[in-house]
Amino acid sequence: MNKILKGTALLAGVVLLLAGCKQHSEKKEEVATEMQKDTLWYQENYRPQFHFSPIAHWMNDPNGLVYNDGIYHLFYQYYPKDIVWGPMHWGHATSNDLIHWEHKPIALYPDSLGYIFSGSAVVDKNNTTGFAKNGETPLVAIYTYHDPVGAEKGTNTYQTQGIAYSLDNGDTWSTYENNPVIGNEGQKDFRDPKVFWYEKGNYWVLSLVAGDHAQLYKSQDLKSWKLMSTFGQGYGDHGGVWECPDLFKMKVEGTTEERWVLFISINPGGPNSGSATQYFVGDFDGEKFTTTQKGAKWVDHGTDDYAGVTYNNTPNGERIFLGWMSNWNYGQKVPTKTWRSAMTLPRDLKLTKINKQYYLESYPIKAFHTIVEDGVASSTKIAANEIFSKSFEKLNQSVVSFTTQNKNFKINLKNNKGDVMTFVADGDRHDFYIDRSKSGIVDFEKDFSDHLHHMNIADLSTNEYEVKLVIDVASVELFLNKGQYVMTDIMFPQSPYTSIEVLNTSNETMQINNLKIQPVKSIW
Ligand code: FRU
Repeated sequence: MNKILKGTALLAGVVLLLAGCKQHSEKKEEVATEMQKDTLWYQENYRPQFHFSPIAHWMNDPNGLVYNDGIYHLFYQYYPKDIVWGPMHWGHATSNDLIHWEHKPIALYPDSLGYIFSGSAVVDKNNTTGFAKNGETPLVAIYTYHDPVGAEKGTNTYQTQGIAYSLDNGDTWSTYENNPVIGNEGQKDFRDPKVFWYEKGNYWVLSLVAGDHAQLYKSQDLKSWKLMSTFGQGYGDHGGVWECPDLFKMKVEGTTEERWVLFISINPGGPNSGSATQYFVGDFDGEKFTTTQKGAKWVDHGTDDYAGVTYNNTPNGERIFLGWMSNWNYGQKVPTKTWRSAMTLPRDLKLTKINKQYYLESYPIKAFHTIVEDGVASSTKIAANEIFSKSFEKLNQSVVSFTTQNKNFKINLKNNKGDVMTFVADGDRHDFYIDRSKSGIVDFEKDFSDHLHHMNIADLSTNEYEVKLVIDVASVELFLNKGQYVMTDIMFPQSPYTSIEVLNTSNETMQINNLKIQPVKSIW
């Protein structure tokens, strides 16, 4: 399809889709008018081509990640009137492969109890809620109500938990008449419920955060909840508020050992400034989460993977993760004009044990390869202190991968404007870092570019690096050794990067194997 046609088709789709939301016609008109200004949706400057981003306006956390009846749902924190954060709604998109997305009408709107903050969704297969009257399977969303008036007045009871349900696999939603289902007895920052069915105990378990710790609750019907335990004080990092918990069981790769993993996002206080997601590996006995791990470990060491959580009810029990590809330090200032921010690629999570340490590995899901074009693998040698460089027209929408045993090298992504995004392996110091200070437009916020982003790679699983860079216009996801170490950073080059350099910074010849640069197709 040519660009204009594609834009027009999209516009028609969106207008139709918006026509579905009866009660909110003023919003429908607003978005439609905005859309007519530019029919080239998904062609804008800095628009990711294979990551999810909303058609227009502000997006933050992924919410309500759930699979049901052939459909993966992605709900997200959404403000449909501006490109900065505002009264939160749940935006909605669906997919049958987690790669191609269809935009849906907004699922949840602010109501008399407040804005709709982050939360989760479950498939209530046994109709424990009683919401289904005619044999349907309810999808139930569990989220935080944020009362802006209470917050403004400085009370500490302004966040409560509510539920809403859909009897048509997510197309239409009703809020529960007796909300909130968890009230607030005086805890600031009391939010982001994540629920799962605890098979062994035959009940629902909910984790939420309350400032500096997580709280676990149980319920038979998703409506009446009992507090079971708390976790957090003295564990992990506390440089900021705890947010967006997620608790789930994982098998340790290659063993029969089972462990529970708890995600806690933290903002500020991330390892490279601002927002980041820490995880704990431990046990859950149906009531309490316990761990011997005192310090924080990070799901992603980059600056741009926040509030990530995993899918409920996946077809084969896979643990699939999505994060918000931005950072509260500058997310509202990045130089995009009609929308702001995107999600990470969907990633498959694995738990491994290396040198007696647990590692949560994350790697693009298999289905990603359906849009990655073939590439020819080559090998090359780079003499000590020499540079290998290659021009590649579609570098800014590609996967670059190679292996090497050389421990010290630099990778530069470059354009014709003199911008350079740099990745450095400093094996001698067990360090891998990103320098985006000259990557393009960086002056919208000091914190965006005034420091390097480091990652300690002391436990690298093999004696070689397997490097994968997934580049999508304004973001790079770096996966080392199949996702043992991960960094995600966004950037805003003044023109697309079209050449790549590898600099051998060691004193020995650098052998590179399996070098591939593979273009990735647009999903829009
Ligand atoms: C995380 C967060 C959540 C909250 C939501 C509000 O990014 O702050 O804790 O529910 O965003 O949009």
